[in-house]
Amino acid sequence: RSLSEAMGRPAKTIMSIMFKEFGEMVTINQIIEEDTALAVAMELGVDLTFKKQKGALELVEEIVEQEDAPEDLVTRPPIITVLGHVDHGKTTLVDTLRNSKVVEGEAGGITQHIAAYQVEYNGHKLTFVDTPGHAAFSEMRSRGANVTDMVVLVVAADDGVMPQTAESISHVKASEVPMVVAMNKIDLPDINEQKVLQELTAQNVLPAEWGGETEVVRVSALKGTGLDNLLETLLLTAELHELKANPNRPAVGVCLEGFRDEGRGSVAWLIVQKGTLRIGDAVICGKSYGYIRAMYDDQDQQIEEAPPSTPIKVTGLDSVPGAGDHFVVVGDIEQARELAEERRHEGRTDVLSRHSGGPRTLDDILG
Ligand code: GTP
Ligand code: MG
Repeated sequence: RSLSEAMGRPAKTIMSIMFKEFGEMVTINQIIEEDTALAVAMELGVDLTFKKQKGALELVEEIVEQEDAPEDLVTRPPIITVLGHVDHGKTTLVDTLRNSKVVEGEAGGITQHIAAYQVEYNGHKLTFVDTPGHAAFSEMRSRGANVTDMVVLVVAADDGVMPQTAESISHVKASEVPMVVAMNKIDLPDINEQKVLQELTAQNVLPAEWGGETEVVRVSALKGTGLDNLLETLLLTAELHELKANPNRPAVGVCLEGFRDEGRGSVAWLIVQKGTLRIGDAVICGKSYGYIRAMYDDQDQQIEEAPPSTPIKVTGLDSVPGAGDHFVVVGDIEQARELAEERRHEGRTDVLSRHSGGPRTLDDILG
């Protein structure tokens, strides 16, 4: 049918060519190969070109990248990813900052997935993305580094620069985001701060105290030492980079994790990057779509709306989206459904043609 429409010839004409030339009986809904369509077009003297339709992915990217007018931009909290080697104290750091005890609930004390939390300090909000330090979770660290405005690299003073510290540094360098080093566990005896600074320098991370660009803040995540200093350094860095977003536009952002929850169905852990996400919004997230049914903040409290840089969990999507998928709010649920379905069938080509000559009758062709 679409070939007939594109060429401006009756479907019956195509059917009869298919039968005559290829010995194939086709129906109007049948999908035929690109080569076959070209051969049919040639028979009819139609100049047919195939053009890949603008995919859902491109449409979503367009919405994501849509520029906002400068006067619509307001300051937003920085999104800070915490990176570092396993057991260097990333989760403890975030726990102490927000007065929680996530680390105690972790199997074997090892972070298995990416998670995001918000902290308030002196009236400023900061969003932290905790990542696993384990060697197996390289992809999650790179995903964390992608949504981020800046990085806190946690280096345990008693252990120094280790393989995942070095790997994290290379992610940071690749993404060109500013980085602050938290030299952790300074409460431990017999630590050698100079050795850690040397190891950082060997990775081309030159400490500010040695004339370089990178602030190295001494902290004890466990005891809470130095955390004010760390937060102030982070807020200062955020201020220098003038992080802004337009809260008054359809929300866009990233899915950090998706999972299935027994009571709530598919749950997506999202970070809003621009705009404000609200209950009832029609959303497409990767290949999933739906209305935002409920929204929870990082304390699992229900909320109605989420401005830029807010980490939230949402329910209402028809399936579990993939980690790293972008989400965008679209006009209505029909559009969301269409886009999601299109993404599920991505790679499909659609036929377009330039007509040459008017339609002919079946008799002309069968002549
Ligand atoms: P992964 O998520 O598995 O990569 O580890 P992590 O970097 O999140 O480390 P986590 O916060 O789980 O801490 C690992 C261990 O180090 C725990 O036993 C913490 O209690 C301990 N720890 C963290 N920070 C400090 C600190 O400042 N001082 C001391 N002495 N111990 C700390
Ligand atoms: Mg952890």
